[in-house]
Amino acid sequence: MSNPLLSIRDLHVGLPHRRRTDEIVRGVSIDVAPGEKLGIVGESGSGKTLTMLAVVRLLATPPLAVLKGEVMLDGEDLLKVDERRLRAVRGGEIAMVYQDPMSSLNPLLHIGSQIEEALRAHGASSDDAKRRTREVLQQVGLADPERVRTSYPHQLSGGMIQRVMIAMALSTSPRVLIADEPTTALDVTIQRQILELVTSLQAETGMAVLWVTHDLGVVASLVDQVVVMYAGRIVEKASTHRLFERPSHPYTAALLESLPGLGTAHRSALHQIGGTPPDPTRLSAGCPFRLRCSYAIEKCAHEEPELIDRGDGSAAACWRDPAQW
Ligand SMILES: Nc1ncnc2c1ncn2[C@@H]1O[C@H](COP(=O)(O)OP(=O)(O)OP(=O)(O)O)[C@@H](O)[C@H]1O
Ligand code: SF4
Ligand SMILES: [Mg+2]
Repeated sequence: MSNPLLSIRDLHVGLPHRRRTDEIVRGVSIDVAPGEKLGIVGESGSGKTLTMLAVVRLLATPPLAVLKGEVMLDGEDLLKVDERRLRAVRGGEIAMVYQDPMSSLNPLLHIGSQIEEALRAHGASSDDAKRRTREVLQQVGLADPERVRTSYPHQLSGGMIQRVMIAMALSTSPRVLIADEPTTALDVTIQRQILELVTSLQAETGMAVLWVTHDLGVVASLVDQVVVMYAGRIVEKASTHRLFERPSHPYTAALLESLPGLGTAHRSALHQIGGTPPDPTRLSAGCPFRLRCSYAIEKCAHEEPELIDRGDGSAAACWRDPAQW
């Protein structure tokens, strides 16, 4: 990859208590190059949102805290910059669309005023803010952008709100866009549409995109790289093509098997992922996936695997080579 624009290095997030610390995100490293699209996939509770919130320093601290790690944006560690610089980065160089979009809008203000306000906070004049607001509402494909501009949030559908959030995020021409999926399963189709939209807009701007989702199917043809998280760690990273052709972690294979119409290209005894993901703060020794894994061996009960290189730029945290499955 070319030099990373955003580099998350060995990030640990957790809950420090007086006598012990519960780790939730346990050593996540992700590099994103300019113009790259990266999907971050994992079941509920795997630490996707906490990782992204740590990047923009919006973790609920306390009780949560970054325990260790670096978040380098073009060589500058965002975990060390002062509040003033941080405000310039947030919503400026890095824009984030949150998992619960309604909660980041003010119910009492017109959509247009809220986008304009965000632009003015980043130095735009009143006229420029108005012009840019019209432009971005148009860009995200809203059928009647003028009506949306003068609407209150509750007057819009969930899909329209998602588009508004993307418009707001794009308004400052960020270098990195982080989008955390909406919570409801119903929104999968909308998610896909929005990701398609972002992909087309991205071609013009060259921004990097991090797309967080439960659903591997949503990102299948739309991202270049995929990171799979499980119990606060990355268990597999690979190009999208490689991941779908030849997954290297049993959990990824199981996710693929559970996708309708996919998952026939590889051998796997798993058709549904039985069991539930473990609580990352209550892990016992060994591989956190072992109780759900059909390929577990003795060693899996004692030692947690680190990411192991699997060729073609892919890596997986599994003791077993897929050739042995
Ligand atoms: N404020 C908090 N205090 C304590 N624990 C928290 C807090 N926020 C999150 N957690 C815990 O951290 C773990 C990871 O949460 P996170 O929100 O990052 O998961 P996620 O992968 O985004 O899940 P989802 O797909 O449901 O959004 C979960 O077990 C969650 O219960
Ligand atoms: S390390 Fe063992 S338990 Fe964990 S995914 Fe690999 S085979 Fe399964
Ligand atoms: Mg989340």
